[in-house]
Amino acid sequence: MREEIKRIPEEALAKQQEYMRLVRFHPDRPKTYYIVTYGCQMNAHDSEKLAGMLEEMGMEPAGERTQADIVLHNTCCIRDNAERKALGNVTWLKEIKKERPELMIGVCGCMIQQEEMAKKLLKQYPFIDLAFGTGNLYRMPEYLLEAIENKSRVIRVDQESSTVVEGLPVHRESDIKAYITVMYGCNNFCSYCIVPYVRGRERSRRADDIVREAEGLAAAGVKEIMLLGQNVNSYGLDSEESISFAKLLHRVTQTGIPRVRFMTSHPKDLSDELIDEMAHNPVIAPHLHLPVQSGSDRILHEMNRRYTREHYLSRVKALRSAMPNIGLTTDLIVAFPGETEEEFEETLSLVEEVRYDSAYTFIYSPRKGTRAAEMPGQIDPQVASERIERLIAAQERITGEILSDMAGQTVQVLVEGTSRRRATQLTGKSGRNINVNFNGDASDVGKIIPVRVTGAGSNTLRGEKEI
Ligand code: 5AD
Ligand code: SF4
Repeated sequence: MREEIKRIPEEALAKQQEYMRLVRFHPDRPKTYYIVTYGCQMNAHDSEKLAGMLEEMGMEPAGERTQADIVLHNTCCIRDNAERKALGNVTWLKEIKKERPELMIGVCGCMIQQEEMAKKLLKQYPFIDLAFGTGNLYRMPEYLLEAIENKSRVIRVDQESSTVVEGLPVHRESDIKAYITVMYGCNNFCSYCIVPYVRGRERSRRADDIVREAEGLAAAGVKEIMLLGQNVNSYGLDSEESISFAKLLHRVTQTGIPRVRFMTSHPKDLSDELIDEMAHNPVIAPHLHLPVQSGSDRILHEMNRRYTREHYLSRVKALRSAMPNIGLTTDLIVAFPGETEEEFEETLSLVEEVRYDSAYTFIYSPRKGTRAAEMPGQIDPQVASERIERLIAAQERITGEILSDMAGQTVQVLVEGTSRRRATQLTGKSGRNINVNFNGDASDVGKIIPVRVTGAGSNTLRGEKEI
C-alpha cells in the first residue's frame, strides 16, 4: 500500500510562479474572483491557497458571486448531499453566464477527483471552463493561463494525488486563527468513506516546514493554530523522520503561539504519549474531536474502524482521568447497511455514556467505489431519518446539560469578533471550543481573555468579562 510520496520540487513551483506572472500581465485575465467552499477544514484551507494564488495573479475578491469574473467551486464528495449542493450551485451560475459570457466557472476539489464525476461534468456541464483535482491544485495558474490564452476549457484531473507541495501563497481568511496542514490523505479505508480514494495515501509534511510555518504565524500575531490532517495520529509514520504527532505538537506549541488545536484523531491510534502531552501542555486547547461513528461492535467491524466500543471507552476514560475538564466531540453515522434497531440503540447508549459536548450526526450515504456501497441491507430512508432525529434529540439534551453545568466557571475565550446583532456583544471560543457571547468592546477582538459563564443557550454560553 505504500506509495512513493511525490514532493513537488522547487523548480515545479517556480514554473507556477512564472505562470502566475504571465496571467497577471495578461490583458484578458479575470479581475475579480469568488471561491465557494464545501466540506471540511482541509477544503477551507485549500481555498485559502487558491485565493493566495489568485491574488498573486492580481485578482481581487468580488463582494458577490454574481459579480466575479471567475468563480471557483471547491467541492466535497463525502456525502451525496454535498455533491448535489455543489452541482446545483454550478448549474445556477450557468444562467449568470448567459448574461455575462466572460464569466469563468471553475470546479475543483474532491468531487472532481472521482473519475466518473469528472467524465460526467465534462459531458453534461459544457459551461464549466476550468476543472482540476486535489493533487494538482498547485498547477491552477498553468491551467488558468491555458484557458485564457486558448479561450478553451481546461479539464485536468489526473491521478497525481500523492503530492506534498511547500511554499504556495496563502490568503488566510482570518488573522486571529489559522490552519496548518500537517499531513494529507488517509490510509484507513473505512468501508463507507470516499476520502482515501480522492485524497490519496497518507503523506506527512516535514516537521521543520510545519514549525517554520507556525513561527511565521506566531510572529504575525495569530492567536490560534489548528493542525489539520484526516488522521493526525498517524503523522510521521509514512516519512523518514521518526517524529510522533505528540512531539510535533509539542514543537508547534513552543513557537510562541498562544493556543493550538488539532483534528482529526482516529481512536485506534490515539496514543498515551499524546494524552500526556495534552495534559501537561497549557498551550494545547482542552478539546478533542474523536469520531466514534457507531456504538456497536458489529457495525464498527463492518465499517473497518479497527477498534471496539470497549477500546474507545477506555481511551475516553484515559483522556478524562488525565484531563477532567476536557471537552469531547465526535462524528456519528446512523443507518449504516444492516444496522438493526438494537445496534442503533448501542450508539445512543454510547452517546449517553460519553456525554459529548457536541456531535456531528450523519445518515449513511452510499459512495460509489467504497465497500459499504455494495453491502446488503441498505436502510430505508424513513427509518434512517427517525434514527437520526432520536440521536440528535439525545445529543441536544446532553449539550444543554453540559453547558448549563458550566455556569460559574471561568473560561478562556479567544475573541473572534462582534456579534452580528449587537456591536457591543463579543463572540469567541473557549478552550473546549464552545461559542461564548459576552459584553465588551471591539478592542478585545483578537485577545484571549477570561470570561465568567453566567448562562447557556442551546449551544452557546453567555458570560461576563472578568476584571
Ligand atoms: N456517509 C455518511 N457519513 C459519512 N462520513 C464519511 N463518509 C460518510 C458516508 N459515506 C462522516 C464520518 C466522518 C465525517 C467526516 O463524515 O462520520 O467522520
Ligand atoms: Fe474516511 Fe476513515 Fe480516513 Fe476518516 S479515517 S478520512 S472516515 S477513511
